Amino acid sequence: MSVSIVILAAGKGTRMKSKTPKVLHTISGKPMLFHALDAAVKISDDVTVVLHHQFDRVKEAIESEYKKIKIHRQDAENYPGTGGALRGIDYRHDRVLILNGDMPLVTTSSLLRLVDAGGDIAMSVIDVEDPSGYGRVVIEKGEVKEIVEEKDCSPEQRLIQTVNAGVYCVKRELLERYIPALSNDNAQQEYYLTDIVKMAVEEGRHVKPVFVEEEEFKGVNSRVDLAHAEEIMQRRIRRYWMLEGVTMRLPETIYIDCRAEFLGECELESGVQIHGRCRIENAHIKAHSVIEDSVIRDGDVGPMARIRPGSNLSHTHIGNFVEVKKSILKGVKAGHLSYLGDSEIDEGTNIGAGTITCNYDGKAKYKTIIGKNVFIGSDTQLVAPVTVEDESIIAAGSTVTRDVPSGALAISRTPLKIVEGFYRKFFNKGRA
Ligand code: UD1
Ligand code: CA
Repeated sequence: MSVSIVILAAGKGTRMKSKTPKVLHTISGKPMLFHALDAAVKISDDVTVVLHHQFDRVKEAIESEYKKIKIHRQDAENYPGTGGALRGIDYRHDRVLILNGDMPLVTTSSLLRLVDAGGDIAMSVIDVEDPSGYGRVVIEKGEVKEIVEEKDCSPEQRLIQTVNAGVYCVKRELLERYIPALSNDNAQQEYYLTDIVKMAVEEGRHVKPVFVEEEEFKGVNSRVDLAHAEEIMQRRIRRYWMLEGVTMRLPETIYIDCRAEFLGECELESGVQIHGRCRIENAHIKAHSVIEDSVIRDGDVGPMARIRPGSNLSHTHIGNFVEVKKSILKGVKAGHLSYLGDSEIDEGTNIGAGTITCNYDGKAKYKTIIGKNVFIGSDTQLVAPVTVEDESIIAAGSTVTRDVPSGALAISRTPLKIVEGFYRKFFNKGRA
């Protein structure tokens, strides 16, 4: 596809009231700018992002995830505004698609509609109930004649309900002539990109309106918009995976990161949260469990379990109130109330209720290795680093501070004492 893309992301995003640059606020696990970038790189090999506010921080974030994106620094002191943003950019292709970094919901197919629309300029428009905040679009005989910014509108123009959604596909040759010729003679004293429409019309050029979905093109300006965009994206993600074979109980209560992946047949019960890059295959995740950056294959988890980053569970049963962190479990049963951190546990092993791997001594983290067919009794503490070899037994209530060889029993208990008649003496409940 021979189109260059520019993503405008230099703005301050004041309404977010945040130290984090607006475009780095995440939606379904990914900065909103990356959602726009993902749509862009699917259709162009020449993508430029315009930055200014918190330049270094946003640039670094982009470069950590994307290799071939060009970064352009806007001279926002001298040339503020969406038109100023485009000064001095070089394009590889004859047409340029311009979009905003705060439009995380825009899809590749909608962008292609603009690219395919033809004309000298194609621009996205939406019909809205409440046009406030948007530039109003004047359309005559099916062509755009002018975009008037809200602050520059006459009272009649203010009533126009067809507005500029802010995405354009423009012939490069026009951009190269119009951008340097823009003036800032307007209410905001900014260089408006939207003025290129007027310039094109004056030259007898054709500006085509392309009507698009408001839901996709609505910009995120506040945290209310952010929450709303996430809801829409969650609906899309859930729908996608349900159609791929994932059963969801009360889907509206389930959260799934956009980087999650499901294989085979899976079931997610209500209130489940899947964060980060998870791969879940033929697994049943029960109500209110939280899974983070982990792999789960052929097993079940929960209800109310937490699987933390770096875990890999296969053929494993994890029951309620079990926390697993950075552990590899193969064919294990851990049914109740345990913490398994920095551990490796092998096939056929049963972890009794209340088992704790003591993986941290206040300074460093240590590993617990448990072999095959081991029986760990309830309320065991495994003080790492420690290894429990195959086919051994740990008696309930033990604190394991040394390695346990294969075939052995490990038991550490204070002897039980029974004092007859103590109750009545203690509470002074005489027989009389
Ligand atoms: C702009 C349009 C308006 C349209 C609206 C749609 C202009 C003059 N007006 O409004 O017609 O209805 O978008 O959302 O273009 N940005 C920069 N550099 C700047 C200013 C903005 O890169 O100097 C970026 C912002 O980061 C943002 C995008 O451009 O991603 C749009 O900026 P914003 O201030 O939201 O647009 P408006 O001027 O309100
Ligand atoms: Ca503005």
